[in-house]
Amino acid sequence: MTRHFLDADNLSPGELAEVLAVAEEFKSDGSPAALAGRTLAMLFEKPSTRTRVSFETGMTQLGGHAIFLGPDDTQLGRGEPVSDTGRVLSRYVDFVMGRVFDHDCLVEMAEHATIPIVNGLSDTAHPCQSLADLLTIHEHFGGFEDVSVGWVGDGNNVLNSFAVAAAMVGLDLTIAIPEGYEPSDDVLTRAKSQGPIPTLTHDPTEAVADADVVYTDVWVSMGEEEEREAKLADFEGFQLNSELLPDSMPVMHCLPAHRGEEITNDVLESDRSLSWSQAENRLHTQKALLTFLA
Ligand code: CP
Ligand code: NVA
Repeated sequence: MTRHFLDADNLSPGELAEVLAVAEEFKSDGSPAALAGRTLAMLFEKPSTRTRVSFETGMTQLGGHAIFLGPDDTQLGRGEPVSDTGRVLSRYVDFVMGRVFDHDCLVEMAEHATIPIVNGLSDTAHPCQSLADLLTIHEHFGGFEDVSVGWVGDGNNVLNSFAVAAAMVGLDLTIAIPEGYEPSDDVLTRAKSQGPIPTLTHDPTEAVADADVVYTDVWVSMGEEEEREAKLADFEGFQLNSELLPDSMPVMHCLPAHRGEEITNDVLESDRSLSWSQAENRLHTQKALLTFLA
């Protein structure tokens, strides 16, 4: 059966642990040419720095090859069905990674493809980011046991996948979010079925109070530009800044950051920021993921 990675819980908790362990090994000892002769097609409907470069570099380091396909590069942009695209790409390449507006586009491709489809970010999920986040937390705290994470910000794709992935490894998670932006029932149900039940609050100080690390992401995600003014108003008080955070509290951000909105420049630039490790760990975890799915 073809395995896909459309969200974190497409892996079992044991498989997730295995992918993270292999990523750690690749990071410390380098990686073999495990994907020699293999090709990854990368479909992008939205811009990317980390996802594009880490997947492409990862394939090179594993001895394989990646093909970048932007929004105007394929017949998808002219209306060729996703189902046809999935079937045709399956005849040429060994994996597809897609960054799309509509998550269902990846679901449909996975239904028709005979090769693994990997979610490189959709409107509702960003599971490759979660892999890197978990590796970063594991490295920083030496494990997951007794680690509490506070999320302060939007109930978006990054949080959705992180909430599920965090539960899978047993992290405690408190989510502080403005009213009306809470994660969907589906996400909360899936997280609850995996491990510790996330706590929801509308008060950022509650998410920070017992946290060992605090995570945020942009308030205005790609594709939400028209909601910008409304969201900036609704998220007032949810900024990661030195008033909200205790002095040494580590912070996470998946990047790109909007300094002055969800996080201040001084917090992001301080030694407490794990963002640069999160970005690096995209490379190691995705190499481990592709090797697992191959
Ligand atoms: N974090 C992340 O996915 O970054 P890019 O948008 O640069 O890929
Ligand atoms: N939530 C952000 C994440 C970017 C990596 C977005 O979707 O734009």
